[in-house]
Amino acid sequence: MCGIVGYIGKRQAAPIILDGLAKLEYRGYDSAGMAVFDGEKVNVKKAVGRLKVLEELTHDGATMPGTVGIGHTRWATHGAPSDVNSHPHFNGDKTIMVVHNGIIENYIPLRAKLQKKGYEFVSETDTEVVAQMLDYYYDGNPMETILKVLHRIEGSYALGIMFADHPGELFAARKGSPLVVGQSEDGCFIASDVPAILKYTRTVYFVDEQEVVRLEPDHMHFYTLDEEEIEKQPTTIEWDADAAEKAGYEHFMLKEMYEQPKTVTDTLLPRIKKDTIEIEELGLSDEEIARIRKIHIVACGSAYHAGVTGKYVIEGLARIPVEVDLASEFRYRNPILEEGAMVIVISQSGETADTLAALRESKARGFKVLGIVNVVGSSIAREADNVMYTWAGPEIAVATTKAYSAQLIALYLLAMKFASVKKTIKEEEYKKLLRDLKRLPDQIELLLNNKKNIQHFANRYIGARDIFFIGRGIDYAISLEGSLKLKEISYIHSEAYAAGELKHGTISLIEEGTLVAAVSTQPELYQKTISNMVEVKARGAFVLAVTNEGNKEIEKAADYVIYIPETNPYFANSLAIIPLQLFGYYVAVGRGCDVDKPRNLAKSVTVE
Ligand code: M6R
Repeated sequence: MCGIVGYIGKRQAAPIILDGLAKLEYRGYDSAGMAVFDGEKVNVKKAVGRLKVLEELTHDGATMPGTVGIGHTRWATHGAPSDVNSHPHFNGDKTIMVVHNGIIENYIPLRAKLQKKGYEFVSETDTEVVAQMLDYYYDGNPMETILKVLHRIEGSYALGIMFADHPGELFAARKGSPLVVGQSEDGCFIASDVPAILKYTRTVYFVDEQEVVRLEPDHMHFYTLDEEEIEKQPTTIEWDADAAEKAGYEHFMLKEMYEQPKTVTDTLLPRIKKDTIEIEELGLSDEEIARIRKIHIVACGSAYHAGVTGKYVIEGLARIPVEVDLASEFRYRNPILEEGAMVIVISQSGETADTLAALRESKARGFKVLGIVNVVGSSIAREADNVMYTWAGPEIAVATTKAYSAQLIALYLLAMKFASVKKTIKEEEYKKLLRDLKRLPDQIELLLNNKKNIQHFANRYIGARDIFFIGRGIDYAISLEGSLKLKEISYIHSEAYAAGELKHGTISLIEEGTLVAAVSTQPELYQKTISNMVEVKARGAFVLAVTNEGNKEIEKAADYVIYIPETNPYFANSLAIIPLQLFGYYVAVGRGCDVDKPRNLAKSVTVE
């Protein structure tokens, strides 16, 4: 999604803006632009394509002198990627500059109204309306003008605004799209995400819904939409800027895959005390847990896939019925939430628009929501009643790996906690499960060390047209994620199917040599999956099996086998997904794809 960076202070703004935008590249974008006030007028430069083009155009910012400015990377929604549609947008005489993340939903009537008053629009964007409206209402007082406009626009926004006749001030506002501001000795900053400004400051303020910020070179003031000044507490960012760098790895995705043993440990160990699972953040007493009648898990993409696994594990261990919904469906399907229901939303970024809307919908109906979230201080983290953080650290690659692995751990912990309170598992089983959980980081490490073999195998499939993933139960959940990992970064068509469902239509797509990855980690389903492997093999498929050590029988039906170390079947996803992540990664690398920033995708999807 779009990235915003703004700066006002003692230093040259353009290099800071470019540097910050580079740190936001992972969010996905197709054009970039910036506006800097040079002491007399505002200079604007925009460029389609990578940020590199804008850097070259401005000689790394050197041709845009000035100590106040705003910049933007745009992920096109309204109007194709083009110079004219890129931000910043401005009024007719280029004295008011706006960068925007989000969607102005009522921009069409607003634009029509302004056109009737003689305003001319040059772009197809919704954002230009904001710049022109600011011009229309401007009476020399930026704050009052901004508030008038914010009261009239509908939709979502994170805004950075600059007025040429007030060069000592910058403005920011937020509704529904993430925004942080920060302060250092050298100046004040606006950004859509912390990594953009972490090099300059660790003291940040998360801008809340419907708040406006006025930034001066050495001070920031926060206001409500009624212009009441607000006192806000800063947050000190503890994680290191290095965590958002590649550290010698070829891609962020590879680095993040290699961080999974640590991520799993960090999410797991603080919640195991004296061989008992304690999830303080849960905010539920044992009596309240005992009263849970149903769990609704709501999420998007890979977080949804983690939720599908969560369903099997929670239902299996704690015997609580679980419904898993895609957030984009849940929010509009008028879901039936009955007494005793608990809602869990899962999100790496904590900013996914549909997941946030599902959370709000659940709260509006009077249900408490637990967020499983990675980004501290994100919207979902702040709006959920309780937050269980996945301690994965910043995840930069668009394709999630380590955050997904951490989500699985959070769900296992919940399942076991609920099971122990509800006494649906015996003490001995609980202890054994805990032992297996603690072994996961080393076992993941072991699987990562097998990367050469996977790379070798993946190289055979860089020219594939279709690749299918099949599995039953938890193995189906693993297949969903394995398939998404492959297709989102390699652009090879892939589908995941419940193994028993394939013969109801999709099997007709299997041709001579089509790769079918069969996941088979659930001993009670081995034979069933083998039957499905045989079915596709008989139609010419090349069958890759991912199964547990010792399941030698599978070799009769598979052409190539990847073994995972022994663990409890409920936790098999954490291991089986590793070779599938590596497979997707190496196929994409072999095809020369932009692994960390796949086309058309964004890291955090802040529009619905
Ligand atoms: O930030 P979130 O976890 O809410 O994001 C949800 C999905 O957009 C995300 O998992 C997406 O599917 C990833 N590209 C998968 O790798």
